[in-house]
Amino acid sequence: MRKWEMLLTPYKQAVDELKVKLRGIREQYQKSSQHTPIEFVTGRVKPISSIIDKANRKNIPLGELEEKLQDIAGVRIVTQFVEDIETVVELIRKRKDFEIVEERDYIDHKKPSGYRSYHMLLNYPVQMITGEKKILVELQIRTMAMNFWATIEHSLRYKYSGEIPENIKMRLQRASEAAFLLDEEMSIIRDEVREAQKIISEKQEQSRKEQL
Ligand code: GTP
Ligand code: MG
Repeated sequence: MRKWEMLLTPYKQAVDELKVKLRGIREQYQKSSQHTPIEFVTGRVKPISSIIDKANRKNIPLGELEEKLQDIAGVRIVTQFVEDIETVVELIRKRKDFEIVEERDYIDHKKPSGYRSYHMLLNYPVQMITGEKKILVELQIRTMAMNFWATIEHSLRYKYSGEIPENIKMRLQRASEAAFLLDEEMSIIRDEVREAQKIISEKQEQSRKEQL
């Protein structure tokens, strides 16, 4: 138990720090009444039981978890529009507080399941009392429509222990297509939506200032 705690402490630190930093980006956009490319940020450290399950499934020795299990620390950025994903990716690439190890584009190249998302693997330095430790963090960037689909599909995958029945698989692929179309439609009216949001946000900032 203690050993797991020792292993996972820097992962929790990395997830917590990244959540603060990424939410800070959202805050800055909002304060300047610009459309924010970040709708919300979530993060988690993989539960120990899931770490063990995945290590067994992938034949990863427990001593090699830190290099070979890349999603012990996971952070997710959810956007309103597909175009926001590119904006977020550019913001991430420009940062100097971590390194990007790898990028995977499951948006231009969606998975056979229907999964769409943009993944970035980060090498994030955490300051421990024993010195600096670099932690692998899997960052997933996706729209709300992509997130809706992935969340539902993940539950079904869990329910059927990975063996989703063919008819449901087919439904999920159709749902993925529908999510894609939803993203496309929203993109088309994006300027309209952003203008509306700007007006609302300016109003809110105004009344916030009046209350001070
Ligand atoms: P994993 O063994 O799942 O880590 O796959 P991988 O090593 O090939 O990495 P990949 O980039 O494909 O996937 C990493 C993460 O993306 C997963 O842990 C999931 O969170 C998510 N993901 C990938 N494929 C799917 C999918 O088909 N459905 C859902 N719901 N999520 C997926
Ligand atoms: Mg992986």
